[in-house]
Amino acid sequence: MMAVGRLTFSNITALAPMVRVGTLPMRLLALDYGADVVYCEELIDIKMAQCQRVLNEVLETVDFVAPDDRVMFRTCERERDRVVFQMGTADPDRALTVAQLVEKDVAAIDVNMGCPKEYSTKGGMGVALLSDPDRIEAILKKLVTGVSIPVTCKIRILPTMEETVNLVQKIEKTGVAAIAVHGRFKEERPRHPVHCDYIQAVAQAVSIPVIANGGSSDLVKTNADIDEFRKLTGASSVMLARAAMWNASIFSKQELLPVEKVMEEYLKYAIRYDNNAFNTKYCLCQMLRDKVESPLGKQVQAAQTNAEISEAYGLQEFYQHTQEQQQAKRDSLQTSSQP
Ligand code: FNR
Repeated sequence: MMAVGRLTFSNITALAPMVRVGTLPMRLLALDYGADVVYCEELIDIKMAQCQRVLNEVLETVDFVAPDDRVMFRTCERERDRVVFQMGTADPDRALTVAQLVEKDVAAIDVNMGCPKEYSTKGGMGVALLSDPDRIEAILKKLVTGVSIPVTCKIRILPTMEETVNLVQKIEKTGVAAIAVHGRFKEERPRHPVHCDYIQAVAQAVSIPVIANGGSSDLVKTNADIDEFRKLTGASSVMLARAAMWNASIFSKQELLPVEKVMEEYLKYAIRYDNNAFNTKYCLCQMLRDKVESPLGKQVQAAQTNAEISEAYGLQEFYQHTQEQQQAKRDSLQTSSQP
């Protein structure tokens, strides 16, 4: 159950970190449907360290803005007690700088130790960290002592159970609040079956909550499957990536909603929070899956702006109305700031 105040990770269901997918609209949608905790997409420490924290009064968000004016991370009050900031890092000092930059605005900090993509591993980040336990320890200890919110990490499994258990016991000693375990080896792809026995071994080896991950597609297709996956792995909690990306209503105890409805709700949040249009498109295309070449899919793919995407879904009026409200807000803020 969720504790009031400091976020706890036992018996929770979480939206997993997903590059491009886990921006504010998807996180709010997952919360609406019943996720307890939502991870943001992995954000790289070097880029985040250059950001300015800006209060966006029009959108009522907190934005972390890069020198080129790109919003790297946008968050709002609604998710403050539920959002976990996931970082890509290989450097304890830089990790702490970034964690301190965001700690007032998020519920916890997570370090990605599972990403096998080159952009992560080439800097010694992501899954590359798994072969450097001393560095893992240095980063996590620095974060745990340097920030006042919980720190977690997300790993993949190592070649043997013994190595995996040794690593998580070392990690537990750093004082992290939980460990998320994606039950695949670093060279394995999503199509490979997830190793529930490894997650189970981890869950038995540590006393902090373990968050089981990797069950989408073969094991977790409905809300009821989440609990089955939890039992199968002996973990305290479950984290979903692809199943949530395809249909975020999987977090709801009710029946899965038609994806058309989910896309509409997603798009409303994207409009409301002025989400980057290419990001919006990417997410909608993931949700469309095999319908991405349908007439609707083609219209989404051709769209260049949130306004054009809105047309594809018949949400022009919602778009227009939101724009007018935001303009009115801008005008009133300008008037009130004049002497
Ligand atoms: C991911 N994954 C991922 N992991 C992570 O730690 N940080 C990240 O930013 C991302 N990005 C990402 C993007 C997309 C589009 C996907 C599909 C996946 C991995 C993800 O969190 C998870 O570990 C795996 O997808 C396995 O979980 P599921 O999909 O079986 O629930």
